[in-house]
Formats: sequence, structure tokens, C-alpha cells
Amino acid sequence: MDRYAVFGNPINHSKSPMIHTLFAQQTAQQLSYQAIEAPIDGFAQAMTAFFSQGGKGCNITVPFKEEAFAFAQQLTPRAKLAGAVNTLVLTADGDVIGDNTDGFGLVHDLQQYMELANKRILLLGAGGAARGVIGPLLDQGIQELVIANRTDAKAHALATLFQDKGNVNACRFTALVGDFDLIINSTSASLSGLVPPIAPTLVRKGTVCYDMMYKADATAFNSWAIEQGAELVIDGLGMLVGQAAESFKVWRGITPVMLPVLTELRKTIK
Ligand code: ATR
Repeated sequence: MDRYAVFGNPINHSKSPMIHTLFAQQTAQQLSYQAIEAPIDGFAQAMTAFFSQGGKGCNITVPFKEEAFAFAQQLTPRAKLAGAVNTLVLTADGDVIGDNTDGFGLVHDLQQYMELANKRILLLGAGGAARGVIGPLLDQGIQELVIANRTDAKAHALATLFQDKGNVNACRFTALVGDFDLIINSTSASLSGLVPPIAPTLVRKGTVCYDMMYKADATAFNSWAIEQGAELVIDGLGMLVGQAAESFKVWRGITPVMLPVLTELRKTIK
């Protein structure tokens, strides 16, 4: 049976084994998928062992996505742009290719709710999670992407990195003004129950708010957005299923149907 896994540290709460097991059942693919904790200082060794013992491909999660980028012998264009790898696949020649499906997951999930072309989008945060989604968002023909971050210089650096790919600007949290169709929170603030300090007036009737984090009830950012009158708030569970579906396609050549898996997953986190 072909063997797949997700590597992270910690990894015990990962939903990926459940998602990929449901995808495999749905598409009648014979495969196994486990969650494996790699030691913090032993990621490359864990990869070498996995692939030498017959592993066909794996997902990579926190904190190893940059190390996976360095580990891969080849990189897809979207992984290069993201500067991080969440999917590794072994080729028939024995090379390990690094890919990044996080941006696909976000865009696919957003498209279930809205059209992205010509929209003004505000991206909060400028860490790895933000960088991974900028290219795929710009590919949708959006009007403008504004990146805002607690550490201002990181937002400017990201805007500069992507300046040839679309209309990307950076701004301080406190200097943000204007009308955004969509506000995406890529910061890890929700993990500590915090919300980036942006003006409540940025959320207007018609604004969609998206938190890349998820939990059983509304995240801190989404609760705040509801209080400000957001039209619609969405959490990152659909993005999680979307990135997994795209990884599954990279490995197996088949795109699974995402919605039933998302519905099942939502029940388990409630
Ligand atoms: P990752 O690479 O996984 O996204 P990261 O590099 O630690 O993780 O980035 C986390 C993001 O959340 C950063 O944009 C961080 O802001 P800084 O660059 O200023 O550190 C942001 N962040 C974390 N906690 C935050 C908080 N309480 N308020 C606002 N932003 C926060």
C-alpha cells in the first residue's frame, strides 16, 4: 500500500490523516496516511528515513515548511514564490519535489463564497502563512492587495517581493484606510485570543472576513468582525481541506470532492 504522512512538531492534533483517509475512500485509492512528529532538530533525517522506507509523499506543517523548501531537490514555481513547502512528492527517478498547495486551498475556499476578480483585499500578517497565499491571490486578477503587519518592515519586504506580480502595497495597521471587499487574517494572533489592532471602520456592510485559523466556535478575529457588522465571516477549515485536496491531486492525479469531507471535519471539531 502506498504510504503518505504529515510531518510537524507538535502533530498530535493534525486533521490531515482524517482528511486524506476520507479522500482515499471517496476516490477508491489504496493508501495509508499517518501523522509523524519529527524532532525539532531532526527534520532532514526524518525525511530521508521516510523516503528510503518507501514513503511516496508527505505534507509538511509547522515548524518545518522552510526546512522542507531547503530539503526538496526540485521546487514547483508556486513553492518558489511561497518560499515554503507543504507538500513533498517522490518522483519515479527518486527526486523529491517540493510544492505548496496552501494558496490553492485559500483561493478555492474563498471562491465558494465570492468572486475575487477586481476585489480590494487586505491581508493582515506578513509571516510564512501570508507569503504562501499572495501569489495565488494575485493570480485571480484582484484590483489591489494591501499587506499590513505588526512589524511594518516585514509587510514592506513582502510587497516588494511580489511587486512584479500585481498591485501590492504595504501599510501600517494604524494607517489603514479605505474600502476592502475582503480582509484575510494570516496572523497567529487568534491563537492567543488576540485581534490585530485595525480600525473597526475597515469592516463595512459587504466586507467578507476570513481567518486562516479555525476552532470549534468563532476565532477571535471572526468574533470581532461579526461585532463590527461583517457581512460574512469564514474560518480556515475549508482552506485546510483545499490544500489537502490539491496535495492529494499532486500525489494521486485525482482531485477529491472537498465539500463532504469539510462537512465531516466540521462535525468532529464541534
Ligand atoms: P508563520 O510564518 O507561520 O505565519 P510567523 O512568521 O510567526 O508565523 O508569523 C506570524 C504572523 O502573525 C506575523 O505576521 C506576526 O507579526 P510580526 O511579524 O510582527 O511578528 C503576526 N502576529 C503574531 N501575533 C500577533 C499579534 N498578537 N498581533 C498582531 N500580529 C501578530
